[in-house]
Amino acid sequence: MLSRIAHVALAVSDLEAAVSLYTHVRGLAVVHREVVEDQGVEEVLLAPASGGAEVQLLGALGPDTPVGRFLAKRGEGLHHIAYEVADLEAALRALRREGVELVDTAPRQGSAGTRVAFVHPKGNRGVLTELVEAPRPAGPGAG
Ligand code: CO
Repeated sequence: MLSRIAHVALAVSDLEAAVSLYTHVRGLAVVHREVVEDQGVEEVLLAPASGGAEVQLLGALGPDTPVGRFLAKRGEGLHHIAYEVADLEAALRALRREGVELVDTAPRQGSAGTRVAFVHPKGNRGVLTELVEAPRPAGPGAG
């Protein structure tokens, strides 16, 4: 069901400092940046030059957001691991059948045109897990 790791996400208290560290010192390149209002985050995706899994830096838009509360409680660090799935609904159905606790029972809009759903850390040995479905190619005549 999980095809590959899409990104590893880190909650950071200073987004600009983290972006600077990961680009200038670690040599990753920014490939996407977006404010996702309904999740209360600004996220920056960085890719290694050789390809492969990306790093997602998450800055909170305020203290009363999921990432803001995470930072207050646990400080900076690993926030979630995101895996690509081909069919998000099918993946959620399969997990529900297995009795895995879901944060999102239905897909929601992610960044960069993706659809995503989060699986509770309880079902993943303590790690919040995100399932990501890549944007589907637009059909003929689609805007
Ligand atoms: Co993510």
